[in-house]
Amino acid sequence: MTRVIIITGKGGVGKSSVAAATALTAARRGVRTAILSVDSAHNLSDIFARRIHSEPTPIADNLKGLEVDLNYETRTNWAGIVNFFRQLTLNNSRINEIVAEECAVFPGMEELFGLLRLHALIESKEFDLVVVDAPPTSDMLKFLRLPDVLEWYLLKFLPLEKTLFRTARPLANRLNIVLPDDSSLDNLTDWHDKVGRLGRYLMDYRNVSARVVMTPDRVCLEESRRTFATLSLFGLMVDAIIVNKLFPAHEAGSFMCFWARQQHQMLGQVEGSFAPIPILTSELLTQEIVGPEPLENFGWRLYKEIPPEAMLMDEPPLKLNETKSTYDLCLKIPFLDKDNFRLWLTHDSVIINLHNQRRQIPLPDSLLRREMIGSTYENQTLCISFRRDSAGKP
Ligand SMILES: Nc1ncnc2c1ncn2[C@@H]1O[C@H](COP(=O)(O)OP(=O)(O)O)[C@@H](O)[C@H]1O
Ligand SMILES: [Mg+2]
Repeated sequence: MTRVIIITGKGGVGKSSVAAATALTAARRGVRTAILSVDSAHNLSDIFARRIHSEPTPIADNLKGLEVDLNYETRTNWAGIVNFFRQLTLNNSRINEIVAEECAVFPGMEELFGLLRLHALIESKEFDLVVVDAPPTSDMLKFLRLPDVLEWYLLKFLPLEKTLFRTARPLANRLNIVLPDDSSLDNLTDWHDKVGRLGRYLMDYRNVSARVVMTPDRVCLEESRRTFATLSLFGLMVDAIIVNKLFPAHEAGSFMCFWARQQHQMLGQVEGSFAPIPILTSELLTQEIVGPEPLENFGWRLYKEIPPEAMLMDEPPLKLNETKSTYDLCLKIPFLDKDNFRLWLTHDSVIINLHNQRRQIPLPDSLLRREMIGSTYENQTLCISFRRDSAGKP
């Protein structure tokens, strides 16, 4: 099975640098690695200081890279799909060819091509590891939700079964109505299958994990907590938090010493927020990270003796289970003293107080609208139950 590591986080925190360093360090260890950029603000070419194309491009021994490009994908691999939408919209006499072509590119398509490319890299069996340089958090969620969204598109654009199209064709011909041809439909069905399979693959936490990159400041910590909670709720396991750009120690009393100390405190909060997930750190280096040698050096700082491709957690710490009457938010907390913790809800989070330590778990909107009805603690897991029907809450 191919190991997949998805690197995400806020813009500018160092996602692409971490993704590139992770991939290169693994490749140097003999792991056959691909790095795939699905962030439209591509910069792998800048980071590796060499041109990286829309097809797997050799970068180093055991390492290939590619940047997903919407125009390239629509022109080459997905001409059949574009054709399908073109045919659909051409049925409308008010839409000319150019407009039809525009309609064939719909929102989410970039993420879709990213998913399909990821699927192709996994299926090729050419790689042991695929590192995904993912878009910033909000777009990343689009990427994860895509299999569901695609279902919606298909229901909208494909109201008739393929066989029905075949049956309807003679009549349509007589009435002079253009129907999408069979190869377009095959393409679309194939596309749908692939994305569905990949959606299931991504939720398999034996092979797939996400690493959240952040800088040591309050705004980034808040966003990373939300990202972590949401990724967990999507069933994606976060197996490391990467705190990047820490200031090195400075002379006591200096301006930078103040900031270094602030960051140090923030690091404590990061550990408190995400335990038991491993926290990897790197200082702010004296130069931008460009080219293989600085990247390898950066990779070494982050991972030290840890193999970058390793799965650093066994089990997703936060899961959402469904029962007939409840949604249960389950959280792995080892060694919880039943009598010694408090649990309450705020307007956007659930707070758990444990021996003076506070854990704040932001809730997704879907749970915020529901009433909390109790909690249980079994097998080192705390489960908080929310009433399934939201009628009890305004
Ligand atoms: N630890 C670090 N020390 C110094 N510069 C860094 C460090 N991490 C990242 N950078 C630099 O910060 C900039 C943004 O990094 P990048 O990886 O492109 O971020 P993102 O992909 O999150 O937008 C780049 O110029 C990169 O070289
Ligand atoms: Mg980037």
